Amino acid sequence: MTTQDELRPTLTTESGAPVADNQNTETAGPGGPALIQDQLLFEKLAHFNRERIPERVVHARGAGAYGTFTVTADVTPWTRAAFLSEVGKQTETFLRFSTVAGNLGAADAVRDPRGFALKFYTEQGNYDLVGNNTPVFFIKDAIKFPDFIHTQKRDPYSGSQEADNVWDFWGLSPESTHQVTWLFGDRGIPASYRHLDGFGSHTYQWQNEAGEHFWVKYHFKTDQGIKNLTQAEANKLAGEDPDSHQRDLREAIERGEFPTWTVSVQIMPAADAATYRFNPFDLTKVWPHADYPLVEFGTLELNRNPDNVFAEVEQSVFSPAHFVPGIGPSPDKMLQGRLFAYADAHRYRVGINADHLPVNRPHATEARTNGRDGHLYDGRHGRQKNYEPNSFGGPVQTGRPLWSAVPVTGTTGNHEAPSHAEDDDFVQAGNLYRLMDDGAKQRLIENLSGSIAKVSADRDDIVERAIENFRKADADYGRRLEDAVRELRKQK
Ligand code: HEM
Repeated sequence: MTTQDELRPTLTTESGAPVADNQNTETAGPGGPALIQDQLLFEKLAHFNRERIPERVVHARGAGAYGTFTVTADVTPWTRAAFLSEVGKQTETFLRFSTVAGNLGAADAVRDPRGFALKFYTEQGNYDLVGNNTPVFFIKDAIKFPDFIHTQKRDPYSGSQEADNVWDFWGLSPESTHQVTWLFGDRGIPASYRHLDGFGSHTYQWQNEAGEHFWVKYHFKTDQGIKNLTQAEANKLAGEDPDSHQRDLREAIERGEFPTWTVSVQIMPAADAATYRFNPFDLTKVWPHADYPLVEFGTLELNRNPDNVFAEVEQSVFSPAHFVPGIGPSPDKMLQGRLFAYADAHRYRVGINADHLPVNRPHATEARTNGRDGHLYDGRHGRQKNYEPNSFGGPVQTGRPLWSAVPVTGTTGNHEAPSHAEDDDFVQAGNLYRLMDDGAKQRLIENLSGSIAKVSADRDDIVERAIENFRKADADYGRRLEDAVRELRKQK
């Protein structure tokens, strides 16, 4: 035995007893069957069987890193959030990037939105901003989300993603035209997680110290510059290096090349909302910057890799309902659905004590709730009373709502979202198309037609409905797409 071997710690069982032999199962004689008294064998096999937890039902594939958010401009006229209270103030963060449709082991270089889920560990609790790299989304009502995702995931019969389902749903959901134009355009396949922008996408509320409220949209502009892959480049990379984005992020941070984003908000005074030309709570629409310019207020740097991917990335949980005083929800119906969906997913996927795990719990304060027990409760509350009100000095409510109440009108019912003066499902998709130069338009048409042409030969109706949406966005867009799809389907 060398001195180095002598210094090595003893391998133990889960209960800490020394392991005598980690190579050979205990058997009845050298050739005989295994003995039930070989506790180590059973413990190892049983633990191994339980290594996986359910993957996220969407955004299963991702990578994360810790970082620092720094305030660079005064936003106290609009929000009283403590972590935004002073220029120069810093807050620890954790950001998880993801793709949406692929399973946990899928390739990174695919055409899909990228998740941009950011946790701010603030002194008033964790604030989660669970966004994407796209400013808009495919649908505007949470009730459609499970159906939409079913079309992106594997078909119940074929077990694969099916162009029939994807284009059937999009064709029948014209509100998707804007986001689909975005997704099949040049930014649809980012070159890495470092080279994409992040968006809060939804409209959120900021409330200032005086109690006034504002509607805001968050923008994170990559300081690395936008870089994308063409479909052909992505197809090659996805095959050669399925972990390309995950590896790129980890290696950049290991090299000390910390990626940064410049953080801004668009701010709409509450009084503007009712008469703004677009419904400001419609997630399929942007607010043109000419209407509400970007107000820069921070910088985000990612500077530390997680040590353990399962503990810190797979078990990380983000919820759009995790607000802090001075920041709140808007009436956006999609957002309202998400306020429920995430914590529910966490309870199923990670368990009722998910929020107590090191990556998820508050780092700059502590959680003081009377919620107790459940699977894997660690006893952190010791002897403290577990009810409220109590006369034993337990924690008490503040009496101050986190955000402003908003006025509502009308009757209950399954209402469509209200339409404002310039709202329809196509105007912003058409504007996006017309903004592109001819090369970008051509690549968009190639990407879209390549995908639409995969629809089954006997389902021209699906193809026609899909194209009709783009035609309504812009006549030239529709015509070029129709020609390209017809050509490809002839060759099939
Ligand atoms: C009503 C619509 C939506 C519903 C019901 C929904 C639901 C979910 C669920 C259940 C998860 C998995 C959570 C987990 O297991 O931890 C998830 C993940 C995620 N969603 Fe949504 N989602 C919706 C729309 C959106 C939108 C509009 C965005 C972006 C603007 C978004 C961004 C994300 C991101 C980034 C993740 C991954 C979070 C992580 O990294 O853990 N989702 N969503």
